[in-house]
Amino acid sequence: MRQAGRYLPEYRALKQKHTFVEMVRTPDLAVEVTLQPLRRFALDAAILFSDILVIPEALGQPYRFKEEGGIAMEFRLEDAAAVERLAPASAVREKLAYMPAALRILRRELGDTKALLGFGGSPWTLACYMLEGGGSDDFARAKEVFHRDRPLFDRLMEKLTDASIEHFRAQIEAGADAVQIFDSWAGIVPAIDYEAASLKWIRRIVDAIGRRAPVILFARGAMAALPALAATGAPVLALDWTVDLGAAARALPATTAVQGNLDPVLLNTTPDVVAREARRLLESMRSRPGHIFNLGHGILPQAKIENVSALVDTVVAFA
Ligand code: CP3
Repeated sequence: MRQAGRYLPEYRALKQKHTFVEMVRTPDLAVEVTLQPLRRFALDAAILFSDILVIPEALGQPYRFKEEGGIAMEFRLEDAAAVERLAPASAVREKLAYMPAALRILRRELGDTKALLGFGGSPWTLACYMLEGGGSDDFARAKEVFHRDRPLFDRLMEKLTDASIEHFRAQIEAGADAVQIFDSWAGIVPAIDYEAASLKWIRRIVDAIGRRAPVILFARGAMAALPALAATGAPVLALDWTVDLGAAARALPATTAVQGNLDPVLLNTTPDVVAREARRLLESMRSRPGHIFNLGHGILPQAKIENVSALVDTVVAFA
């Protein structure tokens, strides 16, 4: 999940001097932001500071992070001609060279004591931003295009799938121990369309990279699809905070590990509430091996530092 961000004063200080995109594109700054949470908290893993929207950027559709929060794309993909104009997947290696560069530095800095995670968006989630032209509550246009113009949709998904495979391979070659696929907008897709809109493209990625490194698959809002997500062969499923983690985990194959799923909003409360709720979650997983403790979605700007400390200390001390 996102573990860097505005809840950290040292992150806000860097953001006074650099834009979000600048920090993503400058390996030394991306390394610094990645390490900020690790200097404060006894975390087991670092997730590279970057963004899923580097893929549209590499294909010719730049993004920016708005000062008031939220994501804007420079334009929206209007039609089939715009999809054809996107750069080929081979552009990823050159355009996104800053990402493996940052990972190589991190690998050296972290040694073998901490896991290093790479990541990317699912083709569906990337298409949501590209077809909408920015953030949205419902990404209606992506769903409209899926139903109105399937050839255009499929062409876009093929490009995004190929680009993502290149991107994940480059991250693994640069030292990532595992990669996480974020299908953050899985939850807006009707269940009956999930296979064609998202899952089949994710499966292609898992098939292409799964032998090189473990894949952690997060399909937010699609917890009813957990058996289908496990059937992709991803060895780890990340679960959002809407499901009972223990019950969900026990219904999955014993060989599928789970990651999650504390509600990030709890980090806005108090250390004793956080410790209590973290223990409750850990207890619910006691009889089920294969749990990576995590939040059920990214950390919020309102998270309090003493609460993040209480969370990490509780998890580390749990026996
Ligand atoms: O901790 C880390 O830095 C991990 C790296 C990371 C970021 N984004 C950096 C980031 C990861 C794994 C992401 C993934 C990402 N980016 C997703 C998928 C995960 C998810 O949250 O569902 C998505 C959908 C994006 C696109 C994006 N980038 C959004 C929706 C936002 C938040 C916009 C807002 O209004 O807060 C971002 C910004 C972003 N990406 C931040 C970070 C640390 C926050 C930037 C800030 O607060 O200044």
